[in-house]
Amino acid sequence: MADVIPLLQARGLKRYFGGLKAVDHVDFSLNTGEIRAIIGPNGAGKTTFVSLLSGRTQPTSGTILFDGEDVSALPAYRRVERGIAYTFQITNIYKTMSAADNVRMAVQSRLKRVHGQKPNFEGETRAALDAVGLSDRADTIAGELAYGHQRLLEIAMGVALRPKLLILDEPTQGLSDLEIENFLTLVRRIARDATVLLIEHNMHVVMSLADRITVLARGQTLAEGTPAEIRDNAEVQAAYLGS
Ligand SMILES: Nc1ncnc2c1ncn2[C@@H]1O[C@H](COP(=O)(O)OP(=O)(O)O)[C@@H](O)[C@H]1O
Ligand SMILES: [Mg+2]
Repeated sequence: MADVIPLLQARGLKRYFGGLKAVDHVDFSLNTGEIRAIIGPNGAGKTTFVSLLSGRTQPTSGTILFDGEDVSALPAYRRVERGIAYTFQITNIYKTMSAADNVRMAVQSRLKRVHGQKPNFEGETRAALDAVGLSDRADTIAGELAYGHQRLLEIAMGVALRPKLLILDEPTQGLSDLEIENFLTLVRRIARDATVLLIEHNMHVVMSLADRITVLARGQTLAEGTPAEIRDNAEVQAAYLGS
């Protein structure tokens, strides 16, 4: 079997808040093109962990290699330039601007770095809105969109960055059943061009989408494996049912 070069590798990643070990020595590796889910009880350190990967939070110690480069010391915007895009539980959108204007900002931030090409701001903005099914809401003020549509708008902004790695923190929170089914299709489509890392509580979403699952508990990796392996893992069941 050919060696797979990981897109991302975290080694010995730690983030302490005073005495609280939110992330406590995590080794983690993502392969190009995979869909990975991170699951774990509330307070397990999931958001802190992906914040370390995206550069929103600085590690207490540990290193992060992305696409062959040590990005540990880079600020978040530099990591976005390298291809790490993320959306978070708390919506990042500009509520007084239209949906299209929100996406256009993400498009512009990417295209200003691409040289020797006539930028197609409008085309790319429309394509990103289209990808998440929000084309008909392009002119709606973002703050007036339904909550689920605001979450989709955030994903459109991530997609507009054309990332190598798209990180989604609880993207289906607040979505209806129908919106969740559309979301499954959306992520599979995104995963044709990008690696996807999502924190997710909805087990239907996790089991339908993930190639592999990483379980965090108390800041550490409790288990990692295929959906079938994780479902049958007694320790994982105990972490959810116990305490
Ligand atoms: N900025 C912060 N300051 C202090 N404690 C924090 C901070 N962010 C997270 N924590 C704590 O770190 C732990 C992990 O939080 P978090 O990463 O949000 O977990 P999860 O996303 O798995 O629910 C929790 O105990 C939380 O209260
Ligand atoms: Mg969280």
